[in-house]
Amino acid sequence: MKRVAILISGRGSNMAALIEAAKAENFPAEIAIVISNKSDAEGLEKAKAAGISTLVIESKSFGKDRAAFEAKLQSALDDNGIELICLAGFMRLFTAEFVQRWQGRMLNIHPSLLPSFPGLDPHGQALRTGVKISGATVHFVIAETDAGPIIMQGAVAVLGDDTAETLAARVLDVEHRIYPDALRLVATGGTQLDGDICRTSANASPDDALISPAVI
Ligand code: GAR
Repeated sequence: MKRVAILISGRGSNMAALIEAAKAENFPAEIAIVISNKSDAEGLEKAKAAGISTLVIESKSFGKDRAAFEAKLQSALDDNGIELICLAGFMRLFTAEFVQRWQGRMLNIHPSLLPSFPGLDPHGQALRTGVKISGATVHFVIAETDAGPIIMQGAVAVLGDDTAETLAARVLDVEHRIYPDALRLVATGGTQLDGDICRTSANASPDDALISPAVI
């Protein structure tokens, strides 16, 4: 049973999906704590309501001193015996040192099929580019933002009348499915880092093709 910390900055819907999945008796990870860098993050109330302990380490007060913020974060992780970190809408960058320390043990979710559309407004980027398929990616965190060995991806068709909001909502459903599955895979030792590549013990069905648009 791996002890997991979820780091949030806002709404916490992915956090809630992880908490819900971890309730299952055979789930290989336990959500030990939810840590927010913002005291007004909506997700904090959801975590408390689910009986998970919460901690706020307000990053604003550290200004540009990222190392000092991370020292406080690291001691909280140590105090709680944390083995894996899940970033779930955590909107603060880490130093290379912190990332290195958690290499292969820190996961992030991003609402695009990486390496397409990292950073802000991924759905706007997808719509402006005209891709016909988008989705979400769970990956191990490296120093570069929204990059790193890919653990799992889920895809959705982009519709002709999609707005950033409607696309975001469909991708969010996929996020809530793949993040718990990816955590399960990592926590059971089903992933292996091979340079920049994450190898997994799981396989997609070779018949699972998503074609968009469909021509009838
Ligand atoms: C999610 O869509 C997540 O993929 C995204 O922020 C949202 C947080 O929502 N993360 C990133 O864009 C990371 N670059 P949530 O707080 O409801 O999980």
